[in-house]
Amino acid sequence: MCGIVGYIGDKEAAPIILDSLSKLEYRGYDSAGIAIFDGKEIDIVKAAGKLSCLVEKTNGGKNMHGTCGIGHTRWATHGEPTENNAHPHCNDDKTIVAVHNGIIENYIEQKEKLTRRGYSFYSDTDTEVATKLVDYYYKKYHDPLKALANFVLKVRGSYALAVIFADRVGEIYAVRKDNPMIIGVTDNESMLASDVPAILKYTRNVYYIDNAEIACLKKGQVNFFNIDGEEIVKTVSKITWDAETAEKGGYRHFMLKEIHEQPRVITDTLNGCIKRGKVDLSSVGLSDKEIKKYSGIVIAACGSAYHAAVVMQYVFERLVCIPVRVELASEFRYRDPVLHKSELFVVISQSGETADSLAALRLAKSRKLSTLAIVNVVGSTIAREADKVFYTKAGPEISVATTKAYTAQLIAGYLIALRFARARKKLSAERYSSLIAELNALPEKVQEILGKKRSIQRFAASVSNKNDVFFIGRGIDYAVSLEGSLKLKEVSYIHSEAYAAGELKHGTISLIENGTLVIAVVSQPDTAEKTMSNLEETKTRGATAVVFTSDPKISADGYKFVIPETEPYFSASLSVIPLQLLAYYMSVLRGNDVDKPRNLAKSVTVE
Ligand code: AGP
Repeated sequence: MCGIVGYIGDKEAAPIILDSLSKLEYRGYDSAGIAIFDGKEIDIVKAAGKLSCLVEKTNGGKNMHGTCGIGHTRWATHGEPTENNAHPHCNDDKTIVAVHNGIIENYIEQKEKLTRRGYSFYSDTDTEVATKLVDYYYKKYHDPLKALANFVLKVRGSYALAVIFADRVGEIYAVRKDNPMIIGVTDNESMLASDVPAILKYTRNVYYIDNAEIACLKKGQVNFFNIDGEEIVKTVSKITWDAETAEKGGYRHFMLKEIHEQPRVITDTLNGCIKRGKVDLSSVGLSDKEIKKYSGIVIAACGSAYHAAVVMQYVFERLVCIPVRVELASEFRYRDPVLHKSELFVVISQSGETADSLAALRLAKSRKLSTLAIVNVVGSTIAREADKVFYTKAGPEISVATTKAYTAQLIAGYLIALRFARARKKLSAERYSSLIAELNALPEKVQEILGKKRSIQRFAASVSNKNDVFFIGRGIDYAVSLEGSLKLKEVSYIHSEAYAAGELKHGTISLIENGTLVIAVVSQPDTAEKTMSNLEETKTRGATAVVFTSDPKISADGYKFVIPETEPYFSASLSVIPLQLLAYYMSVLRGNDVDKPRNLAKSVTVE
């Protein structure tokens, strides 16, 4: 997820663009850049690091002159967060310059075609390919609308693209698909941005550009076209949000916003790896030969990433039939673990900077194991030190309590497990395809659950006075219980425990008394009955027993939340959603700082 901004008007563009970019840093902040057009030449300045580095480099924009420009703050998805990979990107003679938010899935194919047509490339990004594709069609048609229309027809993926053509003075062009873009106007200025906060200071009069529409921004005027070049008439809307609400996309907290981003995150993470109906991990560098040689897998992680690893253990053992061991990185690094060089060591980390997880990785490397990192932050320390990296596509996660990054980690685990199962001939072609089809159905099922959030909100209100909550489940349901319990503790400060349902009777059930809240997660058909019996055992001892289940036939006296059915392997991706919402609403009801809970940090870089 990145932030783009464009300005054309009667003021110096650079300071305005830098100010607008600062309102989008929540969308990405590993590098930034700006291009200013004075009517003759396009001046481009880029900087690795936070936006402040670019501000310093351009003296707050004062060193750049021109009333037309575009800018970008980056969250790397393709290519390290370096100055060279930062946007804007341009064609060879700097007569076309562009900024982009999104993922061009077929950029390698387009890059190969352009290379055959004599193009060369200076960066590792999909955006440079997009820019040169526009250049190719602009040279062919000498018409920005046709160039962008052909871009739309040729690329697959998602984009919000802003382009300046040096021979089209006084104009900025923009096109989008499945990524946000807002266009604002005043009497003699026009602006575009990835999100409302970037333009709110300058105008509340906005246009909404739809997928595959092309906009031409001029001073105080915007014209819209379809890909056939026909003009589209749009009416101006008024933004009523205040700035803070706007940064959260209208949600009250980043946590709720990020919970709602999960369908998109699943889609983006899947799209990065499913090509022509198969799991393609060539970007990770896992070959069939390597996959077949691993005798087992060791996964180390912390917190929610550890919980994702526990899900992965169940999925891998069932699908791939190889031994999988999951380790708390903070324990693993201080043991003298027995490891075999034939094992694959996997480390999962959203930030890629967690000290314990990094230490575990270094221990595995010292024992000569092959290492794979599942990471969300491109170029992070863990990503750079692991032999191979699977980058999840969750985008920047602002809320300390992870939701969308955990979900992306699950998707990564499923994809790797399917890739292993297929390479090791554990899955027929039909079963493989049906599982991939079910993965592709997950975003819609998550959206369906989000549509029922009011039910969770009402349930949270009914139990907000609880001070002891147990989550129970078996197998993958136990793994999800771990995550549901951590979410609740993190943001509501309510004591909670996750327990393997079958384990309760070995001691802990003594804690159950009148009114103790016990939440059973029941999504696994083969253990559902057993877990419901365990829940009944708590009820007979006075517990407030509730169930989150994919089986609508399960009878429950207390609260029952039904999630859509899916393959049991993937059920964690659905059953975790209501638990995230429950934790969120309980936190709000208790008046806590949801996005920045007490005592916690987003990335635990200390031991
Ligand atoms: C999850 O909500 C927590 N913020 C925490 O447990 C987190 O998952 C853990 O610290 C690991 O962080 P990482 O994924 O960045 O390594």
